[in-house]
Amino acid sequence: MDAPITKLAVLGTGKMGQALVAGLLASGWRQPGEITATARSPERISELTERYGVETTLDNSAAVAGADVIVLAVKPQDIDALLSEIADHVTPQQTILSVVAAIPTTHIESRLSNNVPVVRAMPNTPSVVHEGVAGIAGGRHAEDKHVAMAAEVLTHVGRVVIVPENYLDAVTAISGSGPAYFALLAEAMIEAGILLGLSREISTELVVQTMLGSAKLLRDEKMHPVELREMVTSPGGTTTRAIQVLEQSGVRAAFLNAIQAAMERSQELARGEPDV
Ligand SMILES: NC(=O)c1ccc[n+]([C@@H]2O[C@H](COP(=O)([O-])OP(=O)(O)OC[C@H]3O[C@@H](n4cnc5c(N)ncnc54)[C@H](OP(=O)(O)O)[C@@H]3O)[C@@H](O)[C@H]2O)c1
Repeated sequence: MDAPITKLAVLGTGKMGQALVAGLLASGWRQPGEITATARSPERISELTERYGVETTLDNSAAVAGADVIVLAVKPQDIDALLSEIADHVTPQQTILSVVAAIPTTHIESRLSNNVPVVRAMPNTPSVVHEGVAGIAGGRHAEDKHVAMAAEVLTHVGRVVIVPENYLDAVTAISGSGPAYFALLAEAMIEAGILLGLSREISTELVVQTMLGSAKLLRDEKMHPVELREMVTSPGGTTTRAIQVLEQSGVRAAFLNAIQAAMERSQELARGEPDV
């Protein structure tokens, strides 16, 4: 059997890095002494030590020493500087897990020596409440055991799906950007409730709990979306009237087009194309 993960280094512990540290500790899977976190500012690392009791340092090359999994969690524009700091210190016995958006595994591999295994992940924002979902893909030197190791780390902040790397743009368009689609829907439904005379507080409670409950029926009860929709749609009733208006407004087609557009933008960003 392969050696279990004992030590992790999280390089660039901002929002996503912190979500991971918090998730790994909260689940009891790792102890604070088994995690080393880095950031750029002394204030940030003091905050992390104080809050989580993990080891912290500003020195990325020191942080990688002895780590089984090295998580890269900086912004895309900071990845090259980070890789140049650690390139001479990472060994093929370690696994790199990058959550950096739009940076392909080939880019990371080309800046490291020694055929270091690299796994790339596209997590999403609900990871901060440990209800995220991440698509992950192994690079050229990553074997199944490295992908499994990366998946094990990410399961502590949510669920994981394994896909070939060229599908990570689709994952970005669906679940990476997905929380924004649901937020837009929530915003519109809350405003609609207010239009109908409900208070903002009551409308928000109704909408948010309905989203959560519906998600649980789909996920936990494994209900098909059509089944759920039919469950609340009686002939000649209120829901069918609403669905008719949504379909006439082209909502379904708008989602297909929007998600296609998000995927194309993700591909552009991966090619390094700037904002338009
Ligand atoms: N947030 C999300 O929901 C989400 C979802 C999917 C993917 N991601 C990806 O996750 C990555 C991080 O995003 P984020 O939202 O967590 O960003 P963030 O909050 O800005 O965190 C980035 C962290 O990197 C640190 N940093 C930068 N350069 C460094 C270096 N050379 N050495 C050590 N630390 C360094 C910064 O330290 P200081 O604070 O000290 O400057 C900061 O704490 C991004 O690539 C993003 O695409 C994020």
